Amino acid sequence: MKIIQNPVELQRVLLGQKQKGIKIGIVPTMGNLHAGHLSLIETAKENVDIVVSSIFVNPLQFGPNEDFENYPRTLDADIEKLKEVGTDFLFLPTIDDIYPDGQQSHTSVSVNRMTDKLCGASRPGHFLGVTTVVNILFNIVQPNVAVFGKKDYQQYRIIKAMVKDLRMPIEIIGGEIVRESNGLAMSSRNGYLSDQEKSNASLLRKIIIDTAKKIKDPNNAESFTQLKESSIARLTEHGFKVDYFELVRQSDLENATPEDKSILIAAAAWLGQPRLIDNLELDLDS
Ligand code: PAJ
Repeated sequence: MKIIQNPVELQRVLLGQKQKGIKIGIVPTMGNLHAGHLSLIETAKENVDIVVSSIFVNPLQFGPNEDFENYPRTLDADIEKLKEVGTDFLFLPTIDDIYPDGQQSHTSVSVNRMTDKLCGASRPGHFLGVTTVVNILFNIVQPNVAVFGKKDYQQYRIIKAMVKDLRMPIEIIGGEIVRESNGLAMSSRNGYLSDQEKSNASLLRKIIIDTAKKIKDPNNAESFTQLKESSIARLTEHGFKVDYFELVRQSDLENATPEDKSILIAAAAWLGQPRLIDNLELDLDS
């Protein structure tokens, strides 16, 4: 694995490869890698010839009261994992490499749908930071394919919208959510949970699954609003502080109705310090 810090150098090396017809894939990350991240690299490897992973804790996507300073940074362990899974290039820029003229005055890329709801509602500016940095990464690497996890389903959809709107010739692939043995979606922020909280955290997944079962049950009489309210009540009873529990359409994240066939059950809730997110794609035709 070749580690490159300098964007100009990485762009030059990869352009040379691309001109030979070699297909390039990117898996952007903020590090503290776990099996969820590595599964995205496996997916990229199945689709391209060269896989580039990036580790960059992007200050632009963190709110003023969020954990940018304390975000877990575990570079040595990350490098070992990336080598093991078979990444070709690791892009490891500094903040100055990405925002040489300062982050606040930097040109930003704004997707004007899906960004204000769900996670966007409680994290204003978050997705603007994400789309801006992902654009910079795309322009440096110029990949054929980029892989994003469906754990951050809204991020995945927003990036798909950005690529479509801006006519970027990049295929966006969504990777399935990788979970702990108790069902909890793997996350770099799970490290903030105590053992007890980690075991309670599996309830988020369980309640999402229970909601899906009720939606599929022809004898269920509860409306979508009632289903949401009872799920929020159950989570609250078990010590979660619920940010949202929503039933939306997968395609545009607008509120789902019982007529919709492709629904996303999406939830975010704090348990102790960390805010956990999870979701489930419910396809009613299949
Ligand atoms: P990060 O949180 O490090 O996640 C990097 C990628 O891993 C994202 O596509 C995310 O959805 C995916 N991922 C995280 N946990 C996962 C899991 N349990 N199963 C499957 N995939 C999972 O998301 C970001 O970084 C940043 O916003 C980034 C896109 C790098 C831009 O800064």
